[in-house]
Amino acid sequence: MKASDNQKDRQLKGASSRAVHGGVDRDKGFHSITTPIVQSATYSFKNTATLIEFLDKKVYGGELDREEYARYGNPSVWAVERRIADLEGADDAVVYPSGMSAVTSLLLTVLRPGTHIVMTDDCYRRTRQFCETTMKKFGVETSIVPMGDFDALESAMIRRKTRIIFTETPTNPYLRVADLPRLVEIAKEYRAMTLLDTTFATPVNLRPLEYGIDLVMHSATKYLAGHNDLLAGVIAGSAARIIGLKDARGIFGNVIDPHQAYLLERGMKTLAVRVRHQNDAALQVAQYLERHPKIERVHYPGLESHPDHDIAGAQMGGFGGVVSFEVVGDLESTGAFIDRLRIPFIAPSLGGTESLIEQPAYVSYYDLSSEERRAIGIRDNLVRFALGIEDAEDIIADLEQSLREVTPASSLARQT
Ligand SMILES: Cc1ncc(COP(=O)(O)O)c(C=O)c1O
Repeated sequence: MKASDNQKDRQLKGASSRAVHGGVDRDKGFHSITTPIVQSATYSFKNTATLIEFLDKKVYGGELDREEYARYGNPSVWAVERRIADLEGADDAVVYPSGMSAVTSLLLTVLRPGTHIVMTDDCYRRTRQFCETTMKKFGVETSIVPMGDFDALESAMIRRKTRIIFTETPTNPYLRVADLPRLVEIAKEYRAMTLLDTTFATPVNLRPLEYGIDLVMHSATKYLAGHNDLLAGVIAGSAARIIGLKDARGIFGNVIDPHQAYLLERGMKTLAVRVRHQNDAALQVAQYLERHPKIERVHYPGLESHPDHDIAGAQMGGFGGVVSFEVVGDLESTGAFIDRLRIPFIAPSLGGTESLIEQPAYVSYYDLSSEERRAIGIRDNLVRFALGIEDAEDIIADLEQSLREVTPASSLARQT
């Protein structure tokens, strides 16, 4: 049964209703409203006839309606996979114990020696690292092209060799937004698969499969789980592609724990409520910061000043909960600005109930010198603010009290 069939039964259109009820209502057992945590390593068969009936379906094709062994499936995991598939408008989804586990499994499953992948330059650093080191060891070449540069993208494509175009939208930390119809057109021309990491967008703000993207992935650690309390990853797409990935997961053994899957499903029930709040609050914060004399620049796709504002407006239902900005000042004074804030925690990650803040120069690029960071576009005074679900007025008041203490550029210049 596909998620869309269930949608017909329930006639749910809105993302919030789907976040609570989406997916197939397989008998939850014990008359439970919530999905029970099925803590079992293996599953029993009543007799040999039921075992044969199951194996017939498994080996010769047929819809499996029960589990066999926990590396191949678990009802608590299955429930959250159906929910995500429903939200993305996908046939199916496969959940992993982390976002990195999702992306590395996919690449190892799909790519063969001699193939080639094209990715954009502000993809998550660890994903890039994986392609440029591990995949290279296995004979897979990677080309990195600037985000938004479609000429560079097209020149990097190699006929019959490029298997995947991989990008994120919005990206970290500059919130660049991929033009999906153009991306899909190029991929089709070269018969490559499109893989889109939409961790920052969530299915509430963007449903990439509707644009013809082949596979969507998320670090579910972020908005989907939404409470800064677990790691998870997911890939959603067509049944044929997801079956292949589930088979590979059964071999790699990178399965998510059922309790973690339960927490993910529970977190997702409030996904749309949280994301809509975060969209609103982030836009207010971005507008406030853009007007502030002690802020050099704000990067937020909801602002007209953002290079991808028009694309984001056309594709996205909201602009997301992350705002990046450059404070008037240097590495140290920007750190001091962050230290004075009372609401956000200094921590990597995003998308949870608590606001988190980081200075990318420290958190993601501590091993590089200031010049090396600048060469890859990471300025010392850059701040990434990932809004939680606190009220916009409180966040703005907090920013205000800290910005008041920021030394203006002119006096910084006099000091040096
Ligand atoms: C956009 C994006 N993709 C993937 C990942 C990796 O996900 P995880 O930390 O769940 O392994 C992250 C983590 O920060 C991310 O921000």
